Amino acid sequence: MRDSFLLSMKKSPLILGIESSCDETAAAVIRGRTLLSDEIISSASLQAKYGGVVPEIASRVHSDAVDEVVRRALCSADVKKEELDAVAVTYGAGLLGALLVGLSFAKGFAYGLNIPLIGVNHIRGHLAACYLEDETLAPPFMTLLASGGHTAILYTETPTKFEVLGGTLDDAAGEAFDKVARVLGLPYPGGPHVEQLAREGKNVVPMPKMLKGLGGYDFSYSGLKTHIINYVHTKEQKGEAWSKADVAASFQSAALDILVEKTVEGALERHVRTVTAGGGVVANGYLRERLQSACSRAGLKLVLPEKRRCTDNAAMIAAEGLIEYEAGNFSPLSLNACASIPLR
Ligand code: KG4
Ligand code: ZN
Repeated sequence: MRDSFLLSMKKSPLILGIESSCDETAAAVIRGRTLLSDEIISSASLQAKYGGVVPEIASRVHSDAVDEVVRRALCSADVKKEELDAVAVTYGAGLLGALLVGLSFAKGFAYGLNIPLIGVNHIRGHLAACYLEDETLAPPFMTLLASGGHTAILYTETPTKFEVLGGTLDDAAGEAFDKVARVLGLPYPGGPHVEQLAREGKNVVPMPKMLKGLGGYDFSYSGLKTHIINYVHTKEQKGEAWSKADVAASFQSAALDILVEKTVEGALERHVRTVTAGGGVVANGYLRERLQSACSRAGLKLVLPEKRRCTDNAAMIAAEGLIEYEAGNFSPLSLNACASIPLR
């Protein structure tokens, strides 16, 4: 079966991407690196009142939404399912029940249409999103990955080969935003709310030095988070006034400046001329501006996915699907969902 797919490989294949690893049910269609459609049905507003993602709610919403979101993606791309060349789907990492909905649906599609199934690692999907932004983009480049579960600086050597230069020793950047948001009484997911509040504040609350003291390309967020919890508790115990907006602004710059610094440092050290980024935290406007000005100062080209393609979406899954398609990496229909998988 795989060999017959290899023989019929196309130059600019039409790929359907499906994503259901967390609380977004998403489908997208690409032709080569051109995005034809990108649809999302989200259970985020249903989840918000629980202060996080309830796996059972996520699975139920995916089951109700997957058929509709795929229908919308094919319709807005003006593509018939029989024209598809492959189906790419997230098989991990994520919530098992949620992943199984998208994966089972994709298997049925691939089997019914006799086209290859391509299992995609969600995090590699985040990294691949930038390929849809710039059709000329090609490795080598330095990549900043900053999502709810991962934060790392990667040297991307070829589309399928990465080297992790370093990353967080504890919490991921998105996780730190979500935890600090909770301390500040902001809803889940916290990142966008912290960003919005930070716009009204000033970077005047002292933050721990340890963040910058770590060597190489590693960094740590747990000390920063504890520092903020202690700061807020102390102020409240003493009955002293404090500004939520100033805490948000100070945290945001402490959490993100280090990522910008280390990413640019990595690019200069490895003599690459291009920087890319991916993951939910890259939707942050402050981070995007800081990356842009640091890259411009260093004479580096920066390619960022559009904001809506930084958080979970299916276009990035289709983009990584294309990379795997071009490498002839097709998955068997026995592919299982995995709650956790390494980057490589
Ligand atoms: O990549 P993503 O959608 O899901 C994972 O694969 O983890 O990332 C979600 C994370 C959440 O922690 C969320 O708070 C954070 O990305 N996030 C942001 C922003 N938008 C989403 N963090 C900071 N600023 C934002 N604007
Ligand atoms: Zn994600």
